[in-house]
Amino acid sequence: MSIHGEIKRVTTHTLQSMKDHGEKISMLTAYDFSMARIFDDAGIDVILVGDSASNVMAGHETTLPITLDQMIYHAQSVVRACKRCLIIVDLPFGSYQGNSKEALISSIRIMKEAGAHGIKLEGGEEVCESIKRIVGAGVPVMGHLGLTPQSIYKFGTYTVRAREEAEAEMLLRNAKALQEAGCFSLVLEKIPATLGAEVAAQLKIPVIGIGAGNGVDGQVLVMHDMLGITKNFSPRFLRRYLNLYEAISGATTQYIRDIKSRDFPNEKEQY
Ligand code: KIV
Repeated sequence: MSIHGEIKRVTTHTLQSMKDHGEKISMLTAYDFSMARIFDDAGIDVILVGDSASNVMAGHETTLPITLDQMIYHAQSVVRACKRCLIIVDLPFGSYQGNSKEALISSIRIMKEAGAHGIKLEGGEEVCESIKRIVGAGVPVMGHLGLTPQSIYKFGTYTVRAREEAEAEMLLRNAKALQEAGCFSLVLEKIPATLGAEVAAQLKIPVIGIGAGNGVDGQVLVMHDMLGITKNFSPRFLRRYLNLYEAISGATTQYIRDIKSRDFPNEKEQY
């Protein structure tokens, strides 16, 4: 509890302290009020308003089309729902790559218009100047290395990254550069578990993995995958905690049947 009797917020300092004390960090994506409220009430540490909204909410094939305005809309809904967790919002493709001033302006829009607690962006040394500028304005920044979906057309596939030694060394170099530039945390996506553990051991800041093994400081999953809403996506790193696709589909079929058979509404369900 805080001095105002409210639930104590998870902050970037809380995450650092969790790493320092060996407590694993839990993170999930969310994009709307209702799901964010459930995750926050359940005690999730961090909600990421990911640009995966482009895929799972809007139905695009990649994360590239989503706009800054659309990310802000999702973030506003999540912020309204949460009392405890830290809320980080992805800078979408095209809102920060141009130059560090553009990156700062986009970050400030997310903080001011959505009320988020920090931003995430993809990339290594090439985004460090932007990170310094954003952090310099007081905005916490989370980095993202390994599989970086905004660069899918550069890499061509969603396969595991940094399997080769040269790429692994570059990833470690980039991770150190991001920490040096001021990132409070780092996401590592789809890399060998040994490399994930090495990066987490070498960095002071918390490292959160998605397909980066068990040796990192926390885990993140996309909510639609974790809840089994998506069907045709089964990477090795994914653990499904529910099969909501089947559950919702079954409920919908039953609803249709009840209407057609005139079972719904019954006497108790009308005025
Ligand atoms: O957009 C997203 O959901 C993400 C996670 C996969 C980390 O960046």
